[in-house]
Amino acid sequence: MIATVEPAAILISGRGSNMSSILDLAEAEGWLGAVQLVLSNRPAAAGLDLASGRGVATAVLDHRSFGRGNRAAFDAALAERLLAAKVRWVVLAGFMRILGSDFVSPFAGRILNIHPSLLPRHPGLHTHQRALDAGDSEHGCTVHLVDDTLDGGPILAQARVPVLPGDDADALAARVLVQEHLLYPAVVRSAVRGSLSRDFPAHSQREKTA
Ligand code: GRF
Repeated sequence: MIATVEPAAILISGRGSNMSSILDLAEAEGWLGAVQLVLSNRPAAAGLDLASGRGVATAVLDHRSFGRGNRAAFDAALAERLLAAKVRWVVLAGFMRILGSDFVSPFAGRILNIHPSLLPRHPGLHTHQRALDAGDSEHGCTVHLVDDTLDGGPILAQARVPVLPGDDADALAARVLVQEHLLYPAVVRSAVRGSLSRDFPAHSQREKTA
């Protein structure tokens, strides 16, 4: 049992398998109370039921209700919702929205994301197919701090998998997902314990390529 933990919200858009892996570790180790809220921008996200089934509060902020071209209004409403919930950490787990500075600024240095590639390789979508198309011999996932660039914030941790002969994008995605489910809960645990910078010192993506 961890004595004090810093409150977090997990943001999802879909199936929520990374969210579930975080809730699994949190429950096993006694820090589930740190997860104040699971919020989805899609009302039909399967992960919402998984979270409420674990007794975690859920909320929906539907981006479509803000209309086209009103990204900043959605970002501001999201920030307001999470500030009201007094969360310190924002954990993006398959949250399929690009967040602008209206959201990132109030939570600078406290937003985590998991991306299914070895950043800075393959930012954006379709990472597994792109790794195959590029002939990469290894692939993996990255947990990073979020800034207002696409998948460009400082890297905290990575896990690697081999690309095997005969792999298609689904096979590769499944191999990477196993590692996502191990890596992300460990980083989130450090964040809510207040030991993130000690356990996972951030380094910039530029240094990473050097
Ligand atoms: C994961 O592959 C994650 O790396 C990416 O989106 C996917 C979300 O899957 N950001 P899930 O909703 O956690 O199952």
